[in-house]
Amino acid sequence: MMKSGLWLSGAFLLGLTSVVAAESEAPVIFPNLFPFPNATGILKTFNSTGKLDLTGPFFQSLGTNGRSCASCHQPSDAWSVSAAHVENRFERSHGLDPIFRTNDGSNCDHSIDTATMEGRREAYSLLRTRGLIRIALTVPAGAEFEVVSVRNPYGCSETSTLSMYRRPLPSTNLRFLSTVMWDGRESSPQTATKPIAFATNPADLLSDLAHQAMGAALGHAQATTAPTQEQQKKIVDFEMALSTAQAIDFGAGTLDVHGANGGPVILSEQPFFIGINDPLGLNPFKTPFTPVVFTLFTNHWAHTSGHEQHSHHPDRRASILRGQTLFNSHPINIVGVGGLNDATGLPVINGTCGTCHNSFNVGDHSLGAPLNIGIADVTNPLGVDYLPIITLRNKADGTEVSTTDPGRALITGKWADIGKFKGPSLRGLAARAPYFHNGSAATLKDAVEFYNIRFGMGLTHQERADLAAFLSVL
Ligand code: HEC
Ligand code: HEC
Repeated sequence: MMKSGLWLSGAFLLGLTSVVAAESEAPVIFPNLFPFPNATGILKTFNSTGKLDLTGPFFQSLGTNGRSCASCHQPSDAWSVSAAHVENRFERSHGLDPIFRTNDGSNCDHSIDTATMEGRREAYSLLRTRGLIRIALTVPAGAEFEVVSVRNPYGCSETSTLSMYRRPLPSTNLRFLSTVMWDGRESSPQTATKPIAFATNPADLLSDLAHQAMGAALGHAQATTAPTQEQQKKIVDFEMALSTAQAIDFGAGTLDVHGANGGPVILSEQPFFIGINDPLGLNPFKTPFTPVVFTLFTNHWAHTSGHEQHSHHPDRRASILRGQTLFNSHPINIVGVGGLNDATGLPVINGTCGTCHNSFNVGDHSLGAPLNIGIADVTNPLGVDYLPIITLRNKADGTEVSTTDPGRALITGKWADIGKFKGPSLRGLAARAPYFHNGSAATLKDAVEFYNIRFGMGLTHQERADLAAFLSVL
């Protein structure tokens, strides 16, 4: 078994055999800004401590099933896992790599066959094809709703414990977080963790991440005792020092030259505080909101013929720049979004992508705001028939609703929170397909298409391609 649990496909593709001696001997220290290739370019991580030291507890087996944090948070995959790389690990390890464990790696944890390769292929199908981990949660006591039924195609149709299927979030660029986990459960009084706020940041975030690391060791890694406070602190210090972004695009070249501000080093200097750019007027200094969220690419860059080592096509740079402009300015009529339209009492909000992805040059929500944009809906136009259908009943008025994932409602118990998730960071996307909490968008084009349909944006073919090009170089 590999010490660090890392699959160094990136390193092999680059032929860096001097760094990576043999598959079974993963290097323990990478140079800073080590290049990891993906389909459209090269991703790099900048560690503010100067190197990528893979010897700490983040990379050690912390429990009983052989898993480390890196089993699901890989440096090559923007510290998440791409489904393609998971599939690759399945084939190479015959489905025995520690990520393939039945506690939460398989579609269901009982009545499955993991004795044969074919059995494992089926048992881990959601992890292999969509990079999804099974998150099991119970309805909180005193919730405003009860579970009527669960129709889960893989078994696990219990109504006492619900099985949801979610993508690992990147364990990098964490200082920009306004809430931890898709449903914010590690930043919630209900779990004795702290909501992240301007006045208490970053102490709240650091304590939430320590609690998260403990939960991950006990849950994902099936530890019998919690990691020590020192281990938790080492894990959090390690994660907090990381800045990750696409650094080179095969078409557009290096992303931080000629006035462009892409790549992880510039990201590591990006100013941030909670509420830095809030559309509802909650900036702590009363600075007005601006929809111009991303300022990474400039006219100058798009029209410079570079002399740098990576050749590029001017068309690709121009497309990326147009995509950034669309992100910052293309109108979106935001309707029916739980957490936004109901919270403001405005049936239509004239917004942009940045209404929700508003933290500068990162794109997560700069203030904790769980939103329901319809990704968990059984009617998600991207198609979610690979997921369970969970039907809930409002205890007060008997209303029923079906969803594939109740989201934040399983933490707060509130009916209004069904289907709400956080607006995640948008950096390093090219390295970690598929997208959205349930992996329903196989590609960035699919993610853009979701918005085009859901909000009737009327994007042309070219505009969709430009937006996807822009997202792929973040
Ligand atoms: C079996 C796979 C797996 C393992 C192992 C794992 N994680 Fe995760 N991680 C996930 C998934 C899935 C999520 C998202 C879950 C959700 O939001 O419901 C996540 C979320 C996170 C987040 C939240 C990031 C954000 O934007 O909110 C952090 C931080 C994190 N993991 C760190 C760790 C650490 C530290 C360890 C080791 C102690 C670890 N993970 C082990 C799968 C894993
Ligand atoms: C009304 C709020 C809102 C608007 C407007 C919005 N988003 Fe999102 N975005 C979200 C939320 C919430 C999520 C997480 C949803 C989920 O997975 O359930 C998300 C997720 C994403 C993801 C997936 C990220 C990942 O890690 O998987 C991408 C990509 C994305 N948005 C791009 C865009 C683009 C491009 C636009 C403009 C066309 C846009 N968003 C407009 C709220 C919004």
